[in-house]
This record gives sequence, C-alpha cells and structure tokens, in this order.
Amino acid sequence: MNDERSVLPDAKEAPLIVDVEFTETDEVAGSPILDSVERVKTEEVSGPMDLPASLPTPKGRGRVVTVINQKGGVGKTTTVINVASQLGLRGYKILVVDADSQGNCATGLGVDKSKVRTTTRDLILNPETAINARHATAVDNVHMIVGDKTLIGLEQEMLRQLGRERRLYEALAPLLPHYDLILIDTPPSLGIVSVNALVASDGIVVPVQTEYFALEGLALLSGTIREVRTLLNPTLGVDGVLMTMHAPTTLNHQVASELREAFPKLMVEPAIRRNIRLAEAPSHGIPIHLHQPNSAGGQDYRDVVSVLERRWGLKR
Ligand SMILES: Nc1ncnc2c1ncn2[C@@H]1O[C@H](COP(=O)(O)OP(=O)(O)O)[C@@H](O)[C@H]1O
Ligand SMILES: [Mg+2]
Repeated sequence: MNDERSVLPDAKEAPLIVDVEFTETDEVAGSPILDSVERVKTEEVSGPMDLPASLPTPKGRGRVVTVINQKGGVGKTTTVINVASQLGLRGYKILVVDADSQGNCATGLGVDKSKVRTTTRDLILNPETAINARHATAVDNVHMIVGDKTLIGLEQEMLRQLGRERRLYEALAPLLPHYDLILIDTPPSLGIVSVNALVASDGIVVPVQTEYFALEGLALLSGTIREVRTLLNPTLGVDGVLMTMHAPTTLNHQVASELREAFPKLMVEPAIRRNIRLAEAPSHGIPIHLHQPNSAGGQDYRDVVSVLERRWGLKR
C-alpha cells in the first residue's frame, strides 16, 4: 500500500484449520467493505456519560483500534474477525491482535492456535518479539497475533513489572508503518491487558447488544476511558458504538433509540442483525465474507465496514 515502508519479513505461515485456497469473490469488487493504584477502577460512573471522540491517525502509520466492552458475549470477537476480513478483502493490510485468553480470533480466521508458538502473551512480556509473532490467516492481507490460555495469569504476573501498561504500545510501535489498521480484541474485563490495549490505541469501537443494561455498561467503560486518558493516553477516543445481535423486538428497538439519542455522532449504522450465519462461520474457520457473504450478517458487516473505512480515514 505504501512504497515508503521498509520491508517487514513475511508473516509466518500458520497452520490453517482449513486447507482451502480462498479467492476474492465478485462481492469484493461490488462492495461499496498501579497495584491497586494503577489498576483502573471500575466503580459506577454517575453523571453524564462522556465518550470522547477520537482524533485522526497520525500520518505515516496505521491506525490502532481496540474493540472493547467489559461485558462478554456482545460480539467483540465476531466484530474483530469480520471487520478485519472485509477490510483485507478490500486490499488493506490488517493486523489482528487477540488479547483474549479464549483465543477465538484464531479459530475464526482459520488459524490452528495449538500449533502457534509466539502469542500475545509473549508480545506483552517481551515487546521485541512482535515481528516474529505475526501469522498469516485464511484471509489475504490479514495477519494476526494469536491469543491463547497462556494470557490467563498474566495480570497477576505483571503486577510487579514496571511500565506494565505500555508493553503492547511498545511492542506494536515497529509494526505500525506496515499496516493500515491494527485491530485488538479484548477479554470481557477491564484489567491490565485491556488497559495495555487502550494505551496502544488511537480509537476504540464498542459493540453493544441492544438489550437491557447496554447503557449501564457504557457508563462503566466511559469511566475507564476517562482514567486512561488522564493517566496514560491523552488522545484515546471513541471511533464508534456498534449495535450487535439486533432483533426486531420492541426492547431491541427501544435500546437502539436510546443509544442513538445518547451518542448521535458515535453510532455506527446499520445495527448488526442477529444472524445464525455469523455464529456458524467460525466453525468453518472462515469469516462471514468467505462463508455466506450475502447473508444478513455479511451485508451488515459490509455496510458497517464502509462507515468505519471513512471514519478511520482509510478510503483513498
Ligand atoms: N450478529 C450475531 N448474530 C448471531 N450470533 C452472533 C452475532 N454476533 C455474535 N454472535 C455469536 O454470539 C456469541 C458471542 O459473540 P462474540 O463475538 O464471541 O462475543 P464477545 O467476543 O463479546 O464475547 C458467539 O457465539 C458468536 O458467534
Ligand atoms: Mg471475545
């Protein structure tokens, strides 16, 4: 994409779960795609919810975006896999960093994580391993750093380490000029690993399920963002709030209206519909755009990616 970039060694060929060659389909052309002191506090936030907007990406490097919500099962991993893939299919160079011990990004991108040696844990403990931790995936242009269960316990181990909130930031720095976007998936918690992701990021995308407690969850996250901005990363901002698993029920519509009212500028439309194809794609080791591109989920993620592509300043 950028001739001025120096050459990175090839990403490792990770063993793929599926041994199939994927080619770009016509939909691509047609698609418009501190001990307790430093540990971030997570007490309830009262008062108006403040989700600061993000800034443009500095010139000469890719944007770093964390997909985050401390609630589990809201579509973070699904969003990372499918946004990364759709942008890869559009020709952008994407790096996915899986910071969740469940390691589901690998499965969804066709990478057999049991055969991968260097993971996100190594990256956080030894930032200099970054270049060799990258693996190719089932999707062209999408590389990834695999998360796995070795991330469990890392929070405890890091308690005594100096500069522990900046490890991921340092690790990713040499990679930034080589990618258009680095997308970080996070665990359902606001611990030190998630804080590392926020410190490394220009922006965050928050998937929210259009159910009860969506706004309460955002209030909690808003408090964390505020603290990270004050203490660690003053330019962190929100790139978008994305509604997921949206169904045509009265409750879902009510919550969607409340969100649109609360964050008129931050919402990413359309809401992602609840769609079984999105849930089954990972079992095939491929993202929705290689599994069922014309399913409701495939269409919604394609439309959402077109919005994010503009918001992230990727469109050339
Ligand atoms: N729009 C959707 N429609 C139906 N199922 C979905 C959708 N988005 C995600 N899922 C499924 O819901 C579950 C939780 O999603 P996931 O992306 O893993 O959430 P998180 O990473 O926030 O825990 C997974 O089984 C996933 O396949
Ligand atoms: Mg997840």
